[in-house]
Amino acid sequence: MRVPIRPVRGRWPTRIERFGPLRRFFRRDPLTILDENAHADAYRQAMDSIYVGNTIKVTGSARHRVPDQLLIDTVALEGARIVDLGASDGSTSVDLAERVDDFGEFVIADLHLTVTVVTVGRWHVLFDTDGECILVGSRRLSAWPELSRPVAALFAGVIRRGRERRAAEGREVVLLNPDTRRLIAADERISARVHDVFTVWGEPRPDVIKVANLLRRLYFCDDDLVRALHAVRDSLPEGGHLMVVDNPRIPGVVDPPPRAGIWQRDGDRLVEVARAGDPEIADLVELVGTAGVPK
Ligand SMILES: C[S@@+](CC[C@H](N)C(=O)[O-])C[C@H]1O[C@@H](n2cnc3c(N)ncnc32)[C@H](O)[C@@H]1O
Repeated sequence: MRVPIRPVRGRWPTRIERFGPLRRFFRRDPLTILDENAHADAYRQAMDSIYVGNTIKVTGSARHRVPDQLLIDTVALEGARIVDLGASDGSTSVDLAERVDDFGEFVIADLHLTVTVVTVGRWHVLFDTDGECILVGSRRLSAWPELSRPVAALFAGVIRRGRERRAAEGREVVLLNPDTRRLIAADERISARVHDVFTVWGEPRPDVIKVANLLRRLYFCDDDLVRALHAVRDSLPEGGHLMVVDNPRIPGVVDPPPRAGIWQRDGDRLVEVARAGDPEIADLVELVGTAGVPK
């Protein structure tokens, strides 16, 4: 369950933080994403607490070793234009780009690539690109007003003042991990851009689109997932490849392996060419381009 207000770990007296029933409520500071000198791991961990739209920006490094290897073994990637779509802070993109090496172009894409932060007294108010307040944080507390009406009411004044000052005082923050930013600066083949999985990519089309932990039933209904899959299919050229990955959560299993499938565009259809495990939405990918399925 997402708790709508949390004390920040490490900022309270030890006796309070260690007090049994309260202990599990303390959470790492999500405002780490505002710190230009943050360590890559700390930055990545802060992504667990960034909820935007219907989704969470949770990610990790080295979490797609098996799917990435499957892609390398299945698809000729030399000179390929690769897109990691719904890439969050780009940690998984860094992993893949470093392993493939001889790709032609690599685009790290996400719909929510930036937030705007406004400081109101001791509070930092974060807005997404639609102007929705996604987080209110101070040194000691983090709150997610969209998760709870009482919390939204509690912070209504701070949010209103933040909104009023947004245009004049707002600072845009790009949500890319320090490792990702370093790689982009060092390799001109790699870039980042905003893209919505529900829209067609346009030209030049990617040869490979990886979508990991975005097209999931925990975020979208099946109709929307199929709609997104049609947009992704139309983003690929004939013969282009889609890889869908999900990291399942299985109660009682620590770090279960990710599940992945690779499909190749064949006209209106996506034809499976490889898989690892049982990818969550494989049944929906099979429906793409079949009669009676709305686009
Ligand atoms: C759970 S994260 C997955 C991050 C990474 N792919 C991974 O597997 O570690 C989901 C990401 O999808 C992004 N997202 C949400 N809706 C999107 C959309 N309509 N189009 C593109 N990206 C979207 C979120 O901003 C978030 O960064």
